[in-house]
Amino acid sequence: MNWTFAIFAVTTVTTIGVVSSGARSDSPKSSKPAIKVPAKPTYATDVAKIINDRCVECHRPGEVGPFSLVKFEDAKKWSQMIAATTSSRRMPPWKAKEGYGSFKHENRLSETEIATLKAWADQGAPRGAKDKEPKPPTFSGGEWTLGKPDAIIEPERAYNLAPEGEDVYRNFVIPTDFKEPRFVRAIDVKPGNSKVVHHVIMFLDERGASEKLAAATTDGQPGYIGQGGGVGFIPSGSLGGWAPGIRASYLSEGTAYRINPGTRLVMQVHYHKSGKPEVDKTRVALYFSKEAPEREMKLNWIFNFGVNIPAGEKAYKMRKEYVYREDVTIHQTMPHMHLLGRDMKSWFELPDGTVKPLVHVDDWDFNWQLNYALKEPLKLPKGTKQIVEATYDNSSNNPHNPNNPPKRVTWGEETTDEMFLMVTAYTFDNPDAAGNARRGRLQSLLQRLRR
Ligand code: HEC
Repeated sequence: MNWTFAIFAVTTVTTIGVVSSGARSDSPKSSKPAIKVPAKPTYATDVAKIINDRCVECHRPGEVGPFSLVKFEDAKKWSQMIAATTSSRRMPPWKAKEGYGSFKHENRLSETEIATLKAWADQGAPRGAKDKEPKPPTFSGGEWTLGKPDAIIEPERAYNLAPEGEDVYRNFVIPTDFKEPRFVRAIDVKPGNSKVVHHVIMFLDERGASEKLAAATTDGQPGYIGQGGGVGFIPSGSLGGWAPGIRASYLSEGTAYRINPGTRLVMQVHYHKSGKPEVDKTRVALYFSKEAPEREMKLNWIFNFGVNIPAGEKAYKMRKEYVYREDVTIHQTMPHMHLLGRDMKSWFELPDGTVKPLVHVDDWDFNWQLNYALKEPLKLPKGTKQIVEATYDNSSNNPHNPNNPPKRVTWGEETTDEMFLMVTAYTFDNPDAAGNARRGRLQSLLQRLRR
């Protein structure tokens, strides 16, 4: 079995502006929030603020959004599309179901905001009083959101991407020369060519397997392509990554990922071809903590390799449970499926029977694989069970189904295979627990591999 993953990005989703749960209920009795739409909304008084707070982070020159929404003229030109994509909640991209878990940087429009955008578009997108327009936000002048990095890593050379054909998952091996363990509090990723860079994931390789794979590559380009689009070896860890919509932020206070001396950093870049030859050299900034953190961030990978979805099956369900054997604190989580995935939900059952939600993505979209950082880290006593459930649609009703007519689909790393995976970042509450658990985890890993 090849334990590598085509895609996952374990980092924090950040968006600018006011954080709103969307459920601004004016009356405590009403379950639906009251919608108060201005009769004649204008760009100046109502719309610019919403777009500035919720959209321009991505929709501005040089960012991932396909067009800028910084100016009135742009917003007007796109007003019908803005109304349509916000009403369907395709934009802004935020996939976690409202009210199930509570996350940092939630970017979800309220019903009132959605209705305001629609009313404005329906009335011809009027500007209103230009002098009342709020100024678009400024983004920290520096190149890196979190300021000067402690280290910037990049492949030795740029990668040349062919104009056409399948997506490419290229792994770039970056050696480190740290003499002591380093503790990473945050990473920031700058795609070299945002037209073609789709995802970036940082893996750790303590054993040097990646170097051998790169050395065996003869296409004259830096890095290598792993079997089935993966990294081609069992990573010793991950530092998270980047996908559209993810902006750098620090891990919870007092926590960090560990990099041991001699570790190679493997930067996996998922490229979408653009129709033209393209060149990319993506860079990653690392932010270290000065001292060893109180708690090292650990990743719990809950898989179910038993994926086996009959052709045409509309709601194929899977479940997996995991029991934490020590007291832990949960910090963030990232669901992962491929194109047939529709729904993934995870929660905790404490030994006393209490149930706590983690996350529920009920409209899975392969293109928006977000990582959900909990607003408040969640402490769990040992013996707590984490349950993950997923539903897949392998019928021809699923517009993302890669097979027409549908075919049986099983576990695998190609985008057209399927996965059931949830990666949850946690820390041990008791510092001694880490050693015990490492042994326990190794054993259960071996068990799972043998299965
Ligand atoms: C996290 C980054 C991000 C944010 C925030 C964001 N967008 Fe987008 N938007 C994108 C990307 C990337 C695309 C192109 C891919 C896609 O359509 O999914 C896109 C596409 C669109 C499209 C075109 C859809 C189409 O069918 O071609 C519209 C309209 C749009 N966004 C409006 C908005 C509005 C309005 C907001 C704020 C309420 C917003 N977006 C917030 C990244 C973002």
